[in-house]
Amino acid sequence: MSLTPDELLTTTRTVRRRLDVTRPVEREVIEDCLRLAQQAPSGSNAQKWNFVVVTDASKRARLGEIWCRGADRYLASAEMNPQPSQTERLLDSVRHLAAHIHEVPVHLIPCVTGRTDGEAAFVQAGRWASIMPATWSFMLAARSRGLGTAWTSFHLPFEREAAAILGIPFDDVMQAALIPVAYTTGGPFKPARRRGLGTMVHWDAW
Ligand SMILES: Cc1cc2nc3c(=O)[nH]c(=O)nc-3n(C[C@H](O)[C@H](O)[C@H](O)COP(=O)(O)O)c2cc1C
Repeated sequence: MSLTPDELLTTTRTVRRRLDVTRPVEREVIEDCLRLAQQAPSGSNAQKWNFVVVTDASKRARLGEIWCRGADRYLASAEMNPQPSQTERLLDSVRHLAAHIHEVPVHLIPCVTGRTDGEAAFVQAGRWASIMPATWSFMLAARSRGLGTAWTSFHLPFEREAAAILGIPFDDVMQAALIPVAYTTGGPFKPARRRGLGTMVHWDAW
């Protein structure tokens, strides 16, 4: 797939419905994307990142069950107290992924070493920002190879359970997300509608 940098940045969307769960993803393709992700910045260049790539079907099923618990909570709260951003289209797309999450061929769990529970905000900011740019780079690299991804956090309230399934040392390592990865079923991906810059940009003062 040949995309300009601007096209890549504007069309790397959250893909839930158009994940092709019937097509395997080659290990080499995931490794290529991870090599690109490693080029991202991290605090003090410490590279405290780890990526758990889950392809084992029974582990994906167990993670999927945890993920759906988080999705159910989210959907229940959206039904009780809907927010303007939670359109029926978004909720339907979440419901769709919940029905298929266990079938998505790869679950990527980006992790960062060193828990920050209870630390000052600046410590937390530094630690999380040491895994997020690399993860987003992975998602951009995946998009440029015809793969779809979605940043998701539904399993994180149950992080300890996911750690037990995957052997992640919970006391030393934080999970940042669960990224479902699959080839897309095709079709165009378009830039999203966003609020005008004037609603969020502050030049020289808030
Ligand atoms: C920090 C973060 C957490 C998110 N968690 C979830 C999630 O748990 N489940 C999900 O379906 N989408 C999740 N999303 C995806 C957002 O809902 C998504 O970015 C939003 O729908 C915009 O979609 P777009 O990227 O196609 O514009 C998350 C995104 C971010 C950045």
